[in-house]
This record gives sequence, structure tokens and C-alpha cells, in this order.
Amino acid sequence: MKYKRINIFIMSFIFASLLITNSYSQYRYTKTPHDAEGPYYPVSRRSDEDNNLINVKGMSESAKGDVLDLTGVVINTNGIPQKDVTVEIWQTDANGLYRHTRDRSIGKRDPFFQYWGKTKTDEEGKYSFKTLIPGEYNPRPSHIHFKVWVGRKVILTSQMYIIKNKTNTSHINEPLNLYVTKNKKGEYSGFFRIVY
Ligand SMILES: [Fe+2]
Repeated sequence: MKYKRINIFIMSFIFASLLITNSYSQYRYTKTPHDAEGPYYPVSRRSDEDNNLINVKGMSESAKGDVLDLTGVVINTNGIPQKDVTVEIWQTDANGLYRHTRDRSIGKRDPFFQYWGKTKTDEEGKYSFKTLIPGEYNPRPSHIHFKVWVGRKVILTSQMYIIKNKTNTSHINEPLNLYVTKNKKGEYSGFFRIVY
């Protein structure tokens, strides 16, 4: 009788575990929304287009501004990490200027900043960039443009909006917010999940 009760208890536990596991696997993530490409998608390539935007190959100095360690993951709507996906970013320097022929804003570009970069996701769908907190340009808030490529096909074009103060986010589309925090060295870090 005692063993029968134990067996029922074990069976109930396994059944409950299966239910929980099943409910997790059925969770659907919302796709990251598209946002405007804007006029400053890079039209010329520099020899250096890796994921470290604060150091350009052959340059002796680093870019000026607040350093941002941008990390993230690319998953599908079932939550499965996507490997070998290319994430490409482009943005302004610390002064809010693009390096683009269409950006006629007056001001000195940072010769030590790379302005755009790309990287591929690893086995766990993770990607990372070392870059700067982009300077704002009127009337836009600080943002980083990005494209996601699978092979040679663009599957998403959008923007991440840098949020330093969590209490003031009402003007921005929540899934596109990039919340950043500052460490003791004065560098920022933020995590951005991309779902497609
Ligand atoms: Fe922009």
C-alpha cells in the first residue's frame, strides 16, 4: 500500500513536469518589429568592418565617446537560438554625425570611429559589438540601426533605441529599447534580443 502511494506520487510528479516542459516549449516570442532604414545606410565600405567599432585597423587611437558593450542573441519565435546569422549595425559617432555623403551636418567626423560593423552569431545565437553610445541628432533620440542577414538575404531592418533612464520610455516602441547601464569604469553595456 505504501509503495503504491509512492508510485502515484512519482507518476504525478512526472506528469506535472511534462505539463510544465510542454507549456515552456509552446511559448511564442514576438518578432522584433521592423523600423525605417533611414538615409544613412553605408554606401561605401571601409577595409575594417568587424564588430569593434571603436578601433579601426591601422589607427593608433580609439574613438572618442562613451564606450558601449552591446551584446545580444538572435532567436526564432520558438525561442531557438539562431547560429551563423549576420548582424550588421551602423550609427552616429559621439557627436551625432554619420559618415555618409548624405549627412551634410557640419562638424568633425571622428577618424578613429568605424561607424558601422558586422558580426555573426555563434552556436548559441549570441552576438557582440564594442561601439559608442551614439550621439543624438535633431529630432531623433540616440539609436543604432541594424540589419539581420541570413545568408545573402536581409530578413530584418530595424533600430535599437538607447535608454539610460528607464522611467522615460513612453515615446519609444518597447521591443526596440536597448537599456544600458554604466559600470565603474564609466563604460556602458546593454543586451538586445532579436526575434525573427
Ligand atoms: Fe539614424
